Amino acid sequence: MSPASDLLAHTLAQAEFHPRLPQQRRLYEAAKAAIHQQQLGAGNKLPSSRDLARDLGIARNTVIAAFEQLAAEGYVTSALGSGTYVADLQAHTASMRGVGSAQQSNKTAAAASAKGGAGAPLSRRGEELTAFAAGPRYEIQPFAPGDADFSSFPFKLWQRLQNRIWREARADLLDYGQSGGYLPLRQAITEYLRISRSVKVSVEQVMITAGTQQSLDLCAQLLADVGDTAWVEDPCYWGARRVFQARDLKLHPITVDSDGMALDDEDLATSPRLIYVTPSHQYPTGAVMSLARRRELLDVAVRKNAWILEDDYDSEFRYTGRPLAALQGLDTDDRVLYMGTFSKVLYPGIKVGYLVVPPALIAPFKSALYDLQRPGQLMVQAALADFIALGHFTTHIRKIRQTYGARRELLRRTLVAQLGPQLSQSVTISSEESGLHLVVELPDRVDDVALEKLAAESGIQVKALSTYYLAPPVRRGLLVGYAYVTPEKVVYYGRLLAAVIQSGVR
Ligand SMILES: Cc1ncc(COP(=O)(O)O)c(C=O)c1O
Repeated sequence: MSPASDLLAHTLAQAEFHPRLPQQRRLYEAAKAAIHQQQLGAGNKLPSSRDLARDLGIARNTVIAAFEQLAAEGYVTSALGSGTYVADLQAHTASMRGVGSAQQSNKTAAAASAKGGAGAPLSRRGEELTAFAAGPRYEIQPFAPGDADFSSFPFKLWQRLQNRIWREARADLLDYGQSGGYLPLRQAITEYLRISRSVKVSVEQVMITAGTQQSLDLCAQLLADVGDTAWVEDPCYWGARRVFQARDLKLHPITVDSDGMALDDEDLATSPRLIYVTPSHQYPTGAVMSLARRRELLDVAVRKNAWILEDDYDSEFRYTGRPLAALQGLDTDDRVLYMGTFSKVLYPGIKVGYLVVPPALIAPFKSALYDLQRPGQLMVQAALADFIALGHFTTHIRKIRQTYGARRELLRRTLVAQLGPQLSQSVTISSEESGLHLVVELPDRVDDVALEKLAAESGIQVKALSTYYLAPPVRRGLLVGYAYVTPEKVVYYGRLLAAVIQSGVR
């Protein structure tokens, strides 16, 4: 066997050249890897196709096809009668680099002159957006706020529903969703919202989106122009903030107190186009917007000709009593766009949410959803429709509500016990019985960002409350998620967290 045959046989035996790939593809990949790693150097002669086929125990045609592919991509050169040689990739790359760098430097110069010399590859907006590191990239870590317990998701059942949909092999479910989403899912959501959330809704008003983030973006694009003002709660959900910034809206922060968004004269002197609120459970403080404030906000929206974007992201998680009615249900002037998500109840990667628009916005929103997003995933939507229609959704909510409620209580008790009576006076643990996180409020003098970092050193991913604020006065505290943390871990990490808090407050 020639050294080159030996090398290729050895390379082919490596796990990354998957045995289930066609032989031709495996040989091509193996040769390419050997060339890249310079095990087969420029000018090396490859064995003849006949010899290599014999050495590797494969068909000659397979070798010829692999050689042809390598030649077509410039890895080897073949001269009739004299054999196949490894090409000089360095020379090729250098000449490409010459072309590329000339083009690049032209582009850079153009960008630099357009932007006053910085020469950065991103737009100013791009720089601003990427400078802000939002949530942790991998969220399932002890106490990261906002995540559900995926482990309690009924995987087997979900698999059966999905399998059934795939067995039906309906071609129409492989298409884009042209009409606002899979109709039976929109019907199921309509029913659910009417009964559980007191939303005034017909099926036509419901659009399936890829979650709240997309719903918000669609609203920002269709309802506001560059430079328009968006009122946002302060502190505010970072996801909403990012979307509005990305659409070049002016953010006007509105203070949140225990009754939700609290408008003052200064706020009322501005003219918002959009008003973003989380009235059922303010994110992140947990405040529930009072009825008086809800009415006031609806009045203001009419007077200002503004749209209210109601983000009802976790109202399923109310551990005592019924879920609260949505703000949209009180709206008599069609000013509210209501949005919900399956990220919290099922799992975030499902990327399915819904947007309920007033009747006058149905046609433009459907059309924009299709033109801007090209929505699809109808197979998932169909499985989800069955999941809801067959009652599994409500069963699942009931089950996780109990689990999360118990974990919440356990976390509260652990923290209170560990902090002791003295510290418990300067530290307030949120008492409202809902949501997926609780807020441990700290005295103003405490640096909650430093505590967040300190907690991270113990493997705890809490978030500093102050980072959610846009304007002073800023409250200090920590957001502590508990939903997916097992009881043993709630106690273990709860004690560690209490120690971190003690060190910061003392
Ligand atoms: C306030 C709020 N709204 C919405 C969402 C969920 O959005 P999505 O459906 O894009 O996952 C979250 C998730 O963390 C949230 O905290």
